[in-house]
Amino acid sequence: MPSPNMTSLSGRFVVLGVSGGIAAYKAVEVCRRLIDGGAHVAVATTEASLRFVGEATWNALASEHCHHSLWNDDYSIPHTRLGKKADLIVVCPATAKVIGSYAAGISDDLLTATLLATAAPVVICPAMHTEMWEHPAVQDNIATLIRRGVNIVPPAEGRLAGEDTGIGRLAEPEDIVSKVCAVLEAA
Ligand SMILES: Cc1cc2nc3c(=O)[nH]c(=O)nc-3n(C[C@H](O)[C@H](O)[C@H](O)COP(=O)(O)O)c2cc1C
Repeated sequence: MPSPNMTSLSGRFVVLGVSGGIAAYKAVEVCRRLIDGGAHVAVATTEASLRFVGEATWNALASEHCHHSLWNDDYSIPHTRLGKKADLIVVCPATAKVIGSYAAGISDDLLTATLLATAAPVVICPAMHTEMWEHPAVQDNIATLIRRGVNIVPPAEGRLAGEDTGIGRLAEPEDIVSKVCAVLEAA
């Protein structure tokens, strides 16, 4: 992937959605790179993702407190605030569940509600085991999102959780940030 034009991040409001996959730790590096590029980064996590990377980490790194609840947030309607303020939403990693909810229009937590409450471009970075990635349900959901204009950073092949290798590994943080910059530039 060509090196990103990092200036496209300067002053932009980026929502970093983090869902509950083993690759959530790599979103920390994505967050850092977005901040270093001058973006205002608001992190919106699922509850499951907090089992992988805790709230304290996001509070320390992001531009504002970690958002993870529709009901208990600094703002009274957090999903519409994030959806309206966003110049771009990047979901990294995107679980099979979040991809399915987004494709089906289900908004039962802060992250999926924010995805439905925005007109900003969205970048989805799937990460999961090979069998999950290749499942027809997941592939159909990805095709639906592509048809709707959602940007997908495809998973790579390589080491997965446990002993497994194959396709499904989250793309590298550098490539994810490149895509974010390219989409912001084109928007
Ligand atoms: C150790 C572990 C690792 C997991 N990794 C993934 C993953 O990489 N991708 C995925 O789609 N689901 C993964 N899951 C399953 C999700 O955590 C589970 O479907 C969860 O409900 C997702 O919730 P969320 O999408 O709301 O974050 C993993 C589960 C465990 C226990």
